[in-house]
Amino acid sequence: MGVTRRTLRLGAFLLTPGYHVASWRHPTARADGGLDFAHYRELLHTAERGKFDMFFVADGVGIRTPYRDADELSRWGRFLQFDPLTLLSALAVHTTHIGLAATASTTYNEPFHIARKFASIDHLSAGRAAWNIVTSVTDAEAQNFNRDAQPDHASRYHRAREFMEVVTGLWDSWDDDAFGYDKESGRYFDPAGLHVLDHKGEHFSVRGPLNVARPPQGYPVLIQAGASADGQDFAARWAEVVFTAAQTLDEARAFHRGMKRQAAAYGRDPDQLKVMPGLFPVIGRTRAEAEDKYAVLQDLVDPVVGLGLLTQLLGDIDISGCPLDGPLPELPPTEGSTSRQQLVYDKARREGLTIKELYRSLTGGRGHRIVIGTPEDVADLMEEWFTAEAADGFNVMPPVLPEGLDDFVDLVVPELQRRGLFRTEYESSTLRGNLGIDRPARGAATELPLGPGPFATQE
Ligand SMILES: Cc1cc2nc3c(=O)[nH]c(=O)nc-3n(C[C@H](O)[C@H](O)[C@H](O)COP(=O)(O)O)c2cc1C
Repeated sequence: MGVTRRTLRLGAFLLTPGYHVASWRHPTARADGGLDFAHYRELLHTAERGKFDMFFVADGVGIRTPYRDADELSRWGRFLQFDPLTLLSALAVHTTHIGLAATASTTYNEPFHIARKFASIDHLSAGRAAWNIVTSVTDAEAQNFNRDAQPDHASRYHRAREFMEVVTGLWDSWDDDAFGYDKESGRYFDPAGLHVLDHKGEHFSVRGPLNVARPPQGYPVLIQAGASADGQDFAARWAEVVFTAAQTLDEARAFHRGMKRQAAAYGRDPDQLKVMPGLFPVIGRTRAEAEDKYAVLQDLVDPVVGLGLLTQLLGDIDISGCPLDGPLPELPPTEGSTSRQQLVYDKARREGLTIKELYRSLTGGRGHRIVIGTPEDVADLMEEWFTAEAADGFNVMPPVLPEGLDDFVDLVVPELQRRGLFRTEYESSTLRGNLGIDRPARGAATELPLGPGPFATQE
């Protein structure tokens, strides 16, 4: 057998009607696309034609944009969307190969619900489900779940660790071949194949077993995107795909190396953890055309929304009292996303930006790397990051849908394929198979230490 060449993994991060904050106002955008199933189905068919590994649905359990009143909120657009798991269930029956990844929070769910729903989607899609594990980052979400404010950062990750123990334990309720449905002997399943969890811990008391058979992939693919010390430690222990935001090649390379090292410290094969930074591509047949496309979107940015987005990315730190043409002030710590706050702060200082320049630089990529240019320019950047081991793949964030996804699939994918960097056919019918991530045997999750590991902050 020949040596298999390392190739890119691609996620389609399809925030409808586009990743750019003003996308909903773009002439070609479906402003009401968030609740239009036919629109999603069409997008998925395009992504599947482009051989994307997976489609990813981000989510919050509530409206997460900061706003003072209805007037401000009405300028934001784009917060209506389907519940992600409901959407994926429907998409599962309209697609055949693309992975289906959804966000669900460990802070505002019970593990039994999550284990059951993702196991169901894995069965419905014949092995294409993935869970983006988040601890959530806003008080707005906490306020929909009986609290005034979110639990602090460390306690959210503390609960998340135990949550994972329970969820994976529930997926391991049954041997893979436990269910024989043997009419002859009268045994629905083999009694030796049942493993009752009986978990009693600090946050959860869950007996099990799950009333769904072991998922086709063993466990749905586990994704995580926390980049704080605790977030990285959690990802090193549990994640098989790590989403991240990076501005520069050096930043991305350091993160990639750090994640692999931390996974190895847990006793894992670092190759079984794929790091996928976000990429916001604005694609034109010429550079001038790409610049024009970006300018059209930037002209549609409402200043209220621009400043609100910056507030959000800083972890809900109010900077409305600061002059827009002055620098970003020193910031208090946030209980929201500490890593994104740091990234934005570093960018402002590194590039010497005023607050207005800073928010205008974030309206597209929100902290993810932006590339504006020809298909070759986009492929060059992807190749550079990939070969420098700064990325195992990318989460592609089209600025406006469906146009931005069409551009990527029709213009960039063929260029990546020509360079031998990306598949021309799916290798497998399961997401694990395409990502090159092993199917875990029953009980695999309990074989590693639970953490926190040596790199986490003290809890
Ligand atoms: C590509 C990407 C997608 C994310 N999607 C979501 C999401 O859908 N919902 C959510 O609450 N957080 C999402 N996050 C935020 C992370 O889960 C995490 O909370 C954040 O990076 C802060 O982590 P930290 O507190 O460890 O720094 C996403 C982050 C990235 C980089």
